[in-house]
Amino acid sequence: MSGGNETWTSRRAVAALGGDVRVPGDKSISHRAVMFAALADGVSQVSGFLEGEDTRATARAFSAMGVRIEQPSASVRIVHGAGLHGLHAPAAAIDCGNAGTGMRLLTGILAGQAFDSTLIGDESLSRRPMRRVIEPLTRMGAQIASEDGGLPPLRVHGGRELRGIDYALPVASAQVKSALLLAGLYAKGETTIREPHPTRDYTERMLAAFGWPIAFSAGTASLAGGHALRATDIVVPADFSSAAFFLVAASLVPGSDLLLRDVGINPRRTGLLDALRLMGADITAEDPRELGGEAVADLRVRHAPLHGVNVPEALVPDMIDEFPALFVAAAAASGTTRISGASELRVKESDRIAVMARGLRALGVRIEETPDGAIIEGGRLAGGEVDSAGDHRCAMSFAVAGLIADGAIHIADCANVATSFPGFLALANGCGFRLG
Ligand code: S3P
Repeated sequence: MSGGNETWTSRRAVAALGGDVRVPGDKSISHRAVMFAALADGVSQVSGFLEGEDTRATARAFSAMGVRIEQPSASVRIVHGAGLHGLHAPAAAIDCGNAGTGMRLLTGILAGQAFDSTLIGDESLSRRPMRRVIEPLTRMGAQIASEDGGLPPLRVHGGRELRGIDYALPVASAQVKSALLLAGLYAKGETTIREPHPTRDYTERMLAAFGWPIAFSAGTASLAGGHALRATDIVVPADFSSAAFFLVAASLVPGSDLLLRDVGINPRRTGLLDALRLMGADITAEDPRELGGEAVADLRVRHAPLHGVNVPEALVPDMIDEFPALFVAAAAASGTTRISGASELRVKESDRIAVMARGLRALGVRIEETPDGAIIEGGRLAGGEVDSAGDHRCAMSFAVAGLIADGAIHIADCANVATSFPGFLALANGCGFRLG
Protein backbone atom coordinates (compact mmCIF):
# COMPACT_ATOMS: atom_id res chain seq x y z
CA MET A 1 0.00 0.00 0.00
CA SER A 2 2.56 2.59 -1.02
CA GLY A 3 -0.11 4.75 -2.56
CA GLY A 4 2.43 6.44 -4.78
CA ASN A 5 0.66 5.79 -8.03
CA GLU A 6 -2.70 7.48 -7.75
CA THR A 7 -3.06 11.13 -8.72
CA TRP A 8 -6.33 12.99 -8.45
CA THR A 9 -7.43 16.26 -9.98
CA SER A 10 -9.92 18.41 -8.11
CA ARG A 11 -11.66 21.19 -10.03
CA ARG A 12 -13.58 24.23 -8.93
CA ALA A 13 -17.25 23.59 -8.13
CA VAL A 14 -19.65 24.79 -10.80
CA ALA A 15 -22.66 24.61 -8.50
CA ALA A 16 -23.51 24.47 -4.82
CA LEU A 17 -22.84 21.22 -2.96
CA GLY A 18 -25.90 19.34 -1.84
CA GLY A 19 -27.16 15.93 -0.86
CA ASP A 20 -28.22 13.62 1.91
CA VAL A 21 -25.38 11.19 2.53
CA ARG A 22 -23.87 8.79 5.05
CA VAL A 23 -20.10 8.62 5.22
CA PRO A 24 -18.58 5.23 6.16
CA GLY A 25 -18.32 3.81 9.67
CA ASP A 26 -16.09 5.19 12.38
CA LYS A 27 -12.52 3.95 12.13
CA SER A 28 -11.67 4.06 15.84
CA ILE A 29 -14.84 2.20 16.81
CA SER A 30 -14.50 -0.36 14.00
CA HIS A 31 -10.96 -1.32 15.10
CA ARG A 32 -12.05 -1.72 18.69
CA ALA A 33 -15.27 -3.59 17.89
CA VAL A 34 -13.39 -6.33 16.06
CA MET A 35 -10.65 -6.52 18.69
CA PHE A 36 -12.96 -6.76 21.69
CA ALA A 37 -15.38 -9.12 19.95
CA ALA A 38 -12.42 -11.38 19.10
CA LEU A 39 -11.40 -11.52 22.77
CA ALA A 40 -14.96 -12.05 24.05
CA ASP A 41 -16.79 -15.24 24.92
CA GLY A 42 -19.57 -15.76 22.37
CA VAL A 43 -20.60 -14.36 19.00
CA SER A 44 -20.80 -10.61 18.32
CA GLN A 45 -22.17 -8.83 15.29
CA VAL A 46 -20.54 -5.61 14.19
CA SER A 47 -22.66 -3.54 11.80
CA GLY A 48 -21.59 -0.36 10.10
CA PHE A 49 -18.00 -1.69 10.16
CA LEU A 50 -15.62 0.48 8.15
CA GLU A 51 -14.51 -1.42 5.04
CA GLY A 52 -11.25 0.53 4.98
CA GLU A 53 -7.76 -0.88 4.58
CA ASP A 54 -6.87 -0.03 8.20
CA THR A 55 -9.78 -1.81 9.85
CA ARG A 56 -9.69 -4.74 7.44
CA ALA A 57 -6.05 -5.22 8.44
CA THR A 58 -7.14 -5.48 12.08
CA ALA A 59 -9.79 -8.07 11.20
CA ARG A 60 -7.17 -10.03 9.22
CA ALA A 61 -4.84 -9.93 12.24
CA PHE A 62 -7.41 -11.72 14.39
CA SER A 63 -8.26 -14.20 11.64
CA ALA A 64 -4.53 -14.99 11.53
CA MET A 65 -4.71 -15.67 15.27
CA GLY A 66 -7.49 -18.20 14.81
CA VAL A 67 -10.61 -16.06 15.30
CA ARG A 68 -13.46 -16.94 12.93
CA ILE A 69 -14.79 -13.77 11.37
CA GLU A 70 -17.61 -13.95 8.84
CA GLN A 71 -18.64 -11.21 6.46
CA PRO A 72 -22.28 -11.86 5.58
CA SER A 73 -22.47 -8.53 3.74
CA ALA A 74 -20.47 -5.35 3.28
CA SER A 75 -19.92 -3.48 6.55
CA VAL A 76 -21.06 -6.41 8.68
CA ARG A 77 -18.81 -8.80 10.58
CA ILE A 78 -19.86 -11.76 12.68
CA VAL A 79 -17.04 -12.41 15.11
CA HIS A 80 -16.82 -15.75 16.88
CA GLY A 81 -14.96 -14.68 19.99
CA ALA A 82 -12.03 -16.83 21.08
CA GLY A 83 -12.14 -15.63 24.69
CA LEU A 84 -9.43 -13.65 26.45
CA HIS A 85 -6.96 -16.53 26.32
CA GLY A 86 -8.09 -18.18 23.09
CA LEU A 87 -5.85 -16.54 20.48
CA HIS A 88 -3.28 -18.68 18.66
CA ALA A 89 0.20 -17.70 17.54
CA PRO A 90 -0.01 -16.24 14.01
CA ALA A 91 2.00 -18.08 11.36
CA ALA A 92 3.58 -14.88 10.08
CA ALA A 93 4.15 -11.27 11.06
CA ILE A 94 0.94 -9.28 11.54
CA ASP A 95 0.71 -6.49 8.96
CA CYS A 96 -1.12 -3.45 10.34
CA GLY A 97 -0.81 -1.59 7.03
CA ASN A 98 -1.11 2.16 7.57
CA ALA A 99 -2.89 1.92 10.94
CA GLY A 100 -1.35 3.41 14.06
CA THR A 101 -4.47 2.45 16.02
CA GLY A 102 -4.21 -1.15 14.84
CA MET A 103 -0.53 -1.46 15.76
CA ARG A 104 -0.64 0.32 19.11
CA LEU A 105 -3.77 -1.41 20.43
CA LEU A 106 -2.59 -4.80 19.17
CA THR A 107 0.71 -4.31 20.97
CA GLY A 108 -1.21 -3.99 24.24
CA ILE A 109 -3.20 -7.15 23.53
CA LEU A 110 -0.21 -9.16 22.31
CA ALA A 111 1.86 -8.21 25.36
CA GLY A 112 -0.53 -10.37 27.38
CA GLN A 113 -0.42 -13.48 25.18
CA ALA A 114 1.42 -16.74 25.77
CA PHE A 115 3.04 -16.62 22.30
CA ASP A 116 5.56 -14.40 20.51
CA SER A 117 4.41 -12.15 17.69
CA THR A 118 5.73 -9.52 15.29
CA LEU A 119 3.90 -6.40 14.11
CA ILE A 120 4.83 -4.70 10.86
CA GLY A 121 3.37 -1.81 8.89
CA ASP A 122 3.69 0.15 5.67
CA GLU A 123 6.28 2.83 4.99
CA SER A 124 4.38 5.50 6.93
CA LEU A 125 3.60 3.32 9.95
CA SER A 126 7.21 2.15 10.03
CA ARG A 127 8.24 5.75 10.78
CA ARG A 128 5.77 6.30 13.63
CA PRO A 129 6.84 6.43 17.28
CA MET A 130 6.08 3.27 19.25
CA ARG A 131 8.19 4.03 22.32
CA ARG A 132 5.12 5.70 23.78
CA VAL A 133 3.53 2.22 24.11
CA ILE A 134 6.70 0.16 24.56
CA GLU A 135 7.91 2.13 27.57
CA PRO A 136 4.80 1.83 29.78
CA LEU A 137 4.08 -1.73 28.62
CA THR A 138 7.62 -2.65 29.65
CA ARG A 139 6.89 -1.18 33.06
CA MET A 140 3.93 -3.55 33.22
CA GLY A 141 6.30 -6.46 32.63
CA ALA A 142 6.02 -6.82 28.85
CA GLN A 143 9.02 -7.49 26.67
CA ILE A 144 8.95 -5.73 23.31
CA ALA A 145 11.81 -5.20 20.90
CA SER A 146 11.74 -2.50 18.23
CA GLU A 147 14.01 -1.02 15.62
CA ASP A 148 16.29 1.84 16.69
CA GLY A 149 14.36 4.85 17.86
CA GLY A 150 11.37 2.78 19.00
CA LEU A 151 10.18 2.18 15.43
CA PRO A 152 8.35 -0.85 13.99
CA PRO A 153 8.63 -3.74 13.39
CA LEU A 154 7.78 -4.65 16.98
CA ARG A 155 8.63 -8.07 18.36
CA VAL A 156 6.37 -8.85 21.27
CA HIS A 157 7.54 -11.67 23.51
CA GLY A 158 4.79 -13.75 25.02
CA GLY A 159 4.52 -15.64 28.26
CA ARG A 160 5.27 -12.63 30.43
CA GLU A 161 3.42 -11.92 33.62
CA LEU A 162 1.93 -8.43 33.48
CA ARG A 163 1.31 -6.17 36.48
CA GLY A 164 -1.11 -3.26 36.56
CA ILE A 165 0.36 0.25 36.70
CA ASP A 166 -0.71 3.73 37.60
CA TYR A 167 0.52 5.76 34.66
CA ALA A 168 0.28 9.43 33.71
CA LEU A 169 0.46 9.75 29.92
CA PRO A 170 3.06 12.31 28.81
CA VAL A 171 1.03 13.05 25.63
CA ALA A 172 -2.75 13.01 25.21
CA SER A 173 -3.18 9.78 23.24
CA ALA A 174 -6.21 7.53 23.08
CA GLN A 175 -4.09 4.94 21.33
CA VAL A 176 -1.57 4.72 24.16
CA LYS A 177 -4.30 4.80 26.80
CA SER A 178 -6.11 1.99 24.99
CA ALA A 179 -2.99 -0.15 24.56
CA LEU A 180 -2.34 0.03 28.30
CA LEU A 181 -5.94 -0.71 29.26
CA LEU A 182 -5.92 -3.73 26.95
CA ALA A 183 -2.70 -5.00 28.50
CA GLY A 184 -4.41 -4.33 31.82
CA LEU A 185 -7.03 -6.97 30.96
CA TYR A 186 -4.21 -9.51 31.24
CA ALA A 187 -2.42 -7.92 34.21
CA LYS A 188 -2.44 -8.74 37.89
CA GLY A 189 -4.00 -5.93 39.87
CA GLU A 190 -5.26 -2.55 38.79
CA THR A 191 -4.24 -0.44 35.80
CA THR A 192 -4.97 3.28 36.06
CA ILE A 193 -4.30 5.70 33.22
CA ARG A 194 -4.27 9.47 33.69
CA GLU A 195 -4.35 11.78 30.69
CA PRO A 196 -3.04 15.34 30.39
CA HIS A 197 -6.25 16.10 28.44
CA PRO A 198 -9.22 13.77 27.98
CA THR A 199 -9.09 11.81 24.71
CA ARG A 200 -11.66 9.68 22.90
CA ASP A 201 -13.13 7.18 25.35
CA TYR A 202 -14.29 4.42 22.99
CA THR A 203 -12.12 1.78 24.65
CA GLU A 204 -13.56 2.52 28.06
CA ARG A 205 -17.15 2.65 26.83
CA MET A 206 -16.83 -0.47 24.74
CA LEU A 207 -15.09 -2.51 27.44
CA ALA A 208 -18.04 -1.64 29.68
CA ALA A 209 -20.46 -2.71 26.91
CA PHE A 210 -18.61 -6.05 26.73
CA GLY A 211 -19.19 -6.44 30.48
CA TRP A 212 -15.69 -5.66 31.81
CA PRO A 213 -15.77 -3.70 35.08
CA ILE A 214 -14.11 -0.34 34.41
CA ALA A 215 -14.27 3.03 36.14
CA PHE A 216 -13.68 6.09 34.00
CA SER A 217 -14.32 9.77 33.80
CA ALA A 218 -12.84 12.53 31.65
CA GLY A 219 -9.06 12.12 31.90
CA THR A 220 -8.80 8.88 33.93
CA ALA A 221 -9.62 5.21 33.46
CA SER A 222 -9.07 2.31 35.77
CA LEU A 223 -9.63 -1.44 35.48
CA ALA A 224 -8.38 -4.68 37.00
CA GLY A 225 -7.35 -7.87 35.25
CA GLY A 226 -8.97 -11.25 35.67
CA HIS A 227 -12.48 -10.73 34.29
CA ALA A 228 -14.03 -11.82 31.00
CA LEU A 229 -15.52 -10.04 27.98
CA ARG A 230 -19.06 -11.06 27.01
CA ALA A 231 -20.05 -10.93 23.35
CA THR A 232 -22.27 -8.02 22.38
CA ASP A 233 -23.52 -6.50 19.14
CA ILE A 234 -21.98 -3.19 18.06
CA VAL A 235 -23.51 -0.62 15.73
CA VAL A 236 -20.85 1.72 14.36
CA PRO A 237 -21.86 5.34 13.68
CA ALA A 238 -20.64 7.29 10.65
CA ASP A 239 -17.13 8.66 11.18
CA PHE A 240 -16.99 12.32 12.20
CA SER A 241 -13.48 12.51 10.75
CA SER A 242 -14.79 11.49 7.32
CA ALA A 243 -17.74 13.88 7.64
CA ALA A 244 -15.23 16.65 8.41
CA PHE A 245 -14.20 17.06 4.76
CA PHE A 246 -17.82 17.70 3.80
CA LEU A 247 -18.36 20.11 6.69
CA VAL A 248 -15.50 22.23 5.36
CA ALA A 249 -16.41 21.74 1.69
CA ALA A 250 -20.04 22.81 2.08
CA SER A 251 -19.03 25.72 4.31
CA LEU A 252 -16.74 27.01 1.55
CA VAL A 253 -18.85 26.56 -1.63
CA PRO A 254 -21.52 29.28 -1.98
CA GLY A 255 -25.12 28.10 -1.80
CA SER A 256 -24.27 24.66 -0.40
CA ASP A 257 -26.67 22.76 1.84
CA LEU A 258 -25.68 19.23 2.76
CA LEU A 259 -26.99 16.65 5.22
CA LEU A 260 -24.63 14.07 6.74
CA ARG A 261 -26.48 11.20 8.40
CA ASP A 262 -25.80 9.30 11.64
CA VAL A 263 -22.51 11.03 12.41
CA GLY A 264 -20.85 10.16 15.71
CA ILE A 265 -20.71 13.30 17.85
CA ASN A 266 -18.84 12.02 20.89
CA PRO A 267 -17.52 15.33 22.29
CA ARG A 268 -13.95 13.98 22.28
CA ARG A 269 -14.19 13.97 18.47
CA THR A 270 -16.06 17.12 17.54
CA GLY A 271 -13.52 19.87 18.20
CA LEU A 272 -13.70 20.81 14.52
CA LEU A 273 -17.38 21.70 14.91
CA ASP A 274 -16.45 24.20 17.62
CA ALA A 275 -13.54 25.57 15.60
CA LEU A 276 -15.60 25.96 12.42
CA ARG A 277 -18.42 27.62 14.34
CA LEU A 278 -15.91 30.08 15.83
CA MET A 279 -14.94 30.81 12.22
CA GLY A 280 -18.57 31.55 11.35
CA ALA A 281 -19.72 28.19 9.97
CA ASP A 282 -23.41 27.30 9.82
CA ILE A 283 -23.65 23.71 11.04
CA THR A 284 -26.53 22.26 13.02
CA ALA A 285 -26.81 18.88 14.72
CA GLU A 286 -30.29 17.62 13.89
CA ASP A 287 -32.13 14.84 15.70
CA PRO A 288 -29.39 14.08 18.26
CA ARG A 289 -29.87 10.51 19.51
CA GLU A 290 -28.06 7.35 20.54
CA LEU A 291 -26.89 4.69 18.13
CA GLY A 292 -25.29 1.60 19.65
CA GLY A 293 -24.52 3.51 22.85
CA GLU A 294 -22.82 6.43 21.05
CA ALA A 295 -24.20 9.93 20.52
CA VAL A 296 -25.02 10.59 16.88
CA ALA A 297 -26.80 13.31 14.93
CA ASP A 298 -27.49 14.30 11.36
CA LEU A 299 -25.19 17.22 10.64
CA ARG A 300 -26.61 19.89 8.36
CA VAL A 301 -24.06 22.25 6.90
CA ARG A 302 -24.82 25.31 4.86
CA HIS A 303 -22.43 27.71 3.19
CA ALA A 304 -21.25 30.59 5.34
CA PRO A 305 -18.36 33.01 4.97
CA LEU A 306 -15.51 31.96 7.29
CA HIS A 307 -13.06 34.19 9.10
CA GLY A 308 -9.72 33.37 10.70
CA VAL A 309 -9.44 32.55 14.41
CA ASN A 310 -6.88 31.62 17.03
CA VAL A 311 -7.77 27.94 17.44
CA PRO A 312 -8.12 27.39 21.21
CA GLU A 313 -5.46 24.90 22.34
CA ALA A 314 -8.04 23.19 24.53
CA LEU A 315 -9.79 22.03 21.34
CA VAL A 316 -6.71 20.38 19.85
CA PRO A 317 -7.09 16.81 21.21
CA ASP A 318 -10.79 16.84 20.25
CA MET A 319 -9.96 17.67 16.63
CA ILE A 320 -6.58 16.01 16.28
CA ASP A 321 -7.49 14.21 13.03
CA GLU A 322 -9.23 17.23 11.51
CA PHE A 323 -6.33 19.67 11.14
CA PRO A 324 -5.67 18.96 7.45
CA ALA A 325 -9.30 19.97 6.75
CA LEU A 326 -9.02 22.94 9.08
CA PHE A 327 -5.88 24.16 7.27
CA VAL A 328 -7.95 24.35 4.08
CA ALA A 329 -10.81 26.17 5.84
CA ALA A 330 -8.27 28.64 7.23
CA ALA A 331 -6.61 29.14 3.84
CA ALA A 332 -9.98 30.07 2.34
CA ALA A 333 -11.18 32.20 5.27
CA SER A 334 -10.75 35.95 5.57
CA GLY A 335 -7.95 36.96 7.93
CA THR A 336 -5.42 35.02 9.94
CA THR A 337 -5.77 31.64 11.66
CA ARG A 338 -3.28 30.59 14.30
CA ILE A 339 -2.84 26.97 15.34
CA SER A 340 -0.66 26.02 18.31
CA GLY A 341 -0.30 23.18 20.78
CA ALA A 342 -0.60 20.63 17.98
CA SER A 343 2.90 19.11 17.71
CA GLU A 344 1.31 15.62 17.61
CA LEU A 345 0.40 16.44 14.00
CA ARG A 346 4.04 15.87 13.13
CA VAL A 347 3.81 12.15 14.00
CA LYS A 348 0.55 11.20 12.31
CA GLU A 349 0.34 9.27 9.01
CA SER A 350 2.59 12.07 7.74
CA ASP A 351 4.01 15.23 9.28
CA ARG A 352 0.70 16.96 8.68
CA ILE A 353 1.96 20.45 9.47
CA ALA A 354 4.73 20.13 6.88
CA VAL A 355 2.62 18.39 4.24
CA MET A 356 -0.29 20.86 4.47
CA ALA A 357 2.03 23.88 4.62
CA ARG A 358 3.99 22.73 1.55
CA GLY A 359 0.82 21.99 -0.38
CA LEU A 360 -0.97 25.21 0.48
CA ARG A 361 2.13 27.24 -0.30
CA ALA A 362 2.16 25.62 -3.75
CA LEU A 363 -1.39 26.99 -4.14
CA GLY A 364 -0.24 30.52 -3.33
CA VAL A 365 -1.30 30.58 0.33
CA ARG A 366 0.84 32.50 2.83
CA ILE A 367 1.49 30.07 5.63
CA GLU A 368 4.17 29.98 8.29
CA GLU A 369 5.02 26.70 9.97
CA THR A 370 5.75 26.65 13.69
CA PRO A 371 6.99 23.63 15.68
CA ASP A 372 3.51 22.98 17.05
CA GLY A 373 1.20 24.53 14.49
CA ALA A 374 0.96 27.17 11.79
CA ILE A 375 -0.07 30.73 11.01
CA ILE A 376 -2.26 30.82 7.94
CA GLU A 377 -3.23 33.97 6.02
CA GLY A 378 -6.56 33.31 4.40
CA GLY A 379 -7.44 34.45 0.90
CA ARG A 380 -7.65 33.04 -2.59
CA LEU A 381 -6.23 29.71 -3.60
CA ALA A 382 -4.64 29.13 -6.99
CA GLY A 383 -4.52 25.83 -8.82
CA GLY A 384 -1.33 23.81 -8.82
CA GLU A 385 0.36 20.57 -7.93
CA VAL A 386 0.44 19.22 -4.40
CA ASP A 387 1.61 16.00 -2.79
CA SER A 388 -0.44 14.26 -0.10
CA ALA A 389 2.66 12.25 0.93
CA GLY A 390 0.46 9.17 1.07
CA ASP A 391 -1.63 10.68 3.87
CA HIS A 392 -5.34 9.96 3.38
CA ARG A 393 -6.55 13.02 5.27
CA CYS A 394 -4.19 15.41 3.46
CA ALA A 395 -5.31 14.00 0.10
CA MET A 396 -9.00 14.53 0.90
CA SER A 397 -8.30 18.01 2.29
CA PHE A 398 -6.57 19.08 -0.93
CA ALA A 399 -9.57 17.69 -2.83
CA VAL A 400 -11.75 20.08 -0.80
CA ALA A 401 -9.37 22.96 -1.63
CA GLY A 402 -9.92 22.24 -5.34
CA LEU A 403 -13.59 23.19 -5.01
CA ILE A 404 -12.74 26.84 -4.43
CA ALA A 405 -9.31 27.24 -6.04
CA ASP A 406 -8.96 29.38 -9.16
CA GLY A 407 -7.42 26.51 -11.12
CA ALA A 408 -7.34 22.72 -11.01
CA ILE A 409 -5.41 21.08 -8.16
CA HIS A 410 -3.45 17.95 -9.02
CA ILE A 411 -2.95 15.79 -5.91
CA ALA A 412 -0.24 13.12 -5.92
CA ASP A 413 -0.23 9.90 -3.87
CA CYS A 414 -3.95 9.45 -3.10
CA ALA A 415 -4.35 5.66 -2.95
CA ASN A 416 -4.26 5.63 0.85
CA VAL A 417 -7.63 7.37 1.00
CA ALA A 418 -8.90 3.78 0.97
CA THR A 419 -7.43 3.29 4.45
CA SER A 420 -10.21 5.32 6.05
CA PHE A 421 -12.71 6.36 3.37
CA PRO A 422 -13.41 3.80 0.66
CA GLY A 423 -15.76 5.34 -1.90
CA PHE A 424 -14.73 8.92 -1.18
CA LEU A 425 -14.49 9.81 -4.87
CA ALA A 426 -18.00 8.65 -5.72
CA LEU A 427 -19.58 10.13 -2.61
CA ALA A 428 -17.83 13.47 -3.08
CA ASN A 429 -18.72 13.67 -6.77
CA GLY A 430 -22.33 12.83 -5.89
CA CYS A 431 -22.40 15.96 -3.71
CA GLY A 432 -20.95 18.23 -6.40
CA PHE A 433 -17.18 17.77 -6.25
CA ARG A 434 -15.42 17.51 -9.62
CA LEU A 435 -12.80 15.02 -8.63
CA GLY A 436 -11.16 12.27 -10.60
C1 S3P B 1 -7.14 7.18 17.51
C2 S3P B 1 -6.52 8.11 18.30
C3 S3P B 1 -5.80 9.28 17.77
C4 S3P B 1 -6.17 9.54 16.32
C5 S3P B 1 -6.20 8.31 15.48
C6 S3P B 1 -7.17 7.29 16.04
C7 S3P B 1 -7.80 6.03 18.16
O1 S3P B 1 -4.41 9.04 17.86
O2 S3P B 1 -5.27 10.47 15.76
O3 S3P B 1 -6.56 8.60 14.16
O4 S3P B 1 -8.56 5.31 17.49
O5 S3P B 1 -7.57 5.82 19.36
P1 S3P B 1 -3.61 9.36 19.22
O6 S3P B 1 -4.35 8.71 20.30
O7 S3P B 1 -2.24 8.78 19.02
O8 S3P B 1 -3.60 10.84 19.30
